[in-house]
Amino acid sequence: MIVLGLESSCDETGAGIVELPADGGAPRVLANAIASQHSTHAVYGGVVPELASREHLKNLQPVVDAAFKQAGLGLERMDGLAVTYGPGLAGCLHLGLAAAKGLALATDKPWVGVNHLEGHLLAAFLEHPGLRYPYIGLIVSGGHTSLMDVRSATERVRLESTLDDAAGEAFDKVAKLLELGFPGGPALDRLAQGHAGEAPSFPRARPKDGGGGFSYSGLKTSVRVKLEKAARSGQSLDKAAVAAGFQAAAIEPLIQAAVEAAQRLGYAQVVAGGGVAANSLLRQGLTRACQEAGLEACLSSPALCADNGAMIAYAGGLRLLRGEIAPWDLGVAPSLQETL
Ligand code: KG4
Ligand code: ZN
Repeated sequence: MIVLGLESSCDETGAGIVELPADGGAPRVLANAIASQHSTHAVYGGVVPELASREHLKNLQPVVDAAFKQAGLGLERMDGLAVTYGPGLAGCLHLGLAAAKGLALATDKPWVGVNHLEGHLLAAFLEHPGLRYPYIGLIVSGGHTSLMDVRSATERVRLESTLDDAAGEAFDKVAKLLELGFPGGPALDRLAQGHAGEAPSFPRARPKDGGGGFSYSGLKTSVRVKLEKAARSGQSLDKAAVAAGFQAAAIEPLIQAAVEAAQRLGYAQVVAGGGVAANSLLRQGLTRACQEAGLEACLSSPALCADNGAMIAYAGGLRLLRGEIAPWDLGVAPSLQETL
């Protein structure tokens, strides 16, 4: 089955084409085209929903065409269509959903709505044919930070999640404080990577009260207070050291929680998905911690960690293979939960 997947939940317009063998064999990515809107939002220091919608409207058609070109296949060769219907920005989701409905209506092909977070959790199968359910899935993006018990393609339980900000949101906000531009996560990562010496210590993103969950607001405030104090006293701060200290406090608790959960449940594999799964400390740290614990870390290449159409094509393809078809009145679900 060859599936076209559309993604437009936030600030990336994605169209991916994935082939899923009917016998359950390893899926193959035939195309993964993306149009980023970073330059549109950079001047505002964050995603502006109305502008994001307009960009999707402009980009959807060219991105779908680019995916067909990459795959060397046209719309007539698609066996089905998949589209993100939540969670995300309502106006942005509407555009992807309308595009998918239009294509399905014109071609009479089966189509399904996909939970964006299901896409992030299943994307690892695209590059790790040895991945098996159940596994621990860490979703770390601009909008979500959740540790999941992934029992099957459709059954998952949320073990822990953030009590306030998402990890990516914290990276973006701290990067703004450090004047690193937008989106700040990758810039902060690069700056921290270049730092070799001592780094200031900040409160770790996992409350010690044993109640579980992650928390980024205290960490973010602590970085802000440190920068304000330094500015008041005319002291010059090493931005790279601050970035490294923040990154360690933000990332290490995620790694620890993921490994502990895998050990507690007796699972052999850990997956990380979402934009922050491209973070270099998370990738190195999770790989090392898993090795030490006798586990396997299944990390996707950065293009499949960030928002993309291929993960939606794959997650939707599994649903289509099970005979699922979306009702015509399917609407957007901006607050869709991880478990649905
Ligand atoms: O999954 P994603 O592409 O979009 C959402 O669904 O939110 O994640 C975007 C987030 C942004 O907050 C971005 O700053 C962060 O992922 N990000 C990173 C890195 N690359 C992207 N954060 C830390 N280190 C990175 N290398
Ligand atoms: Zn995402």
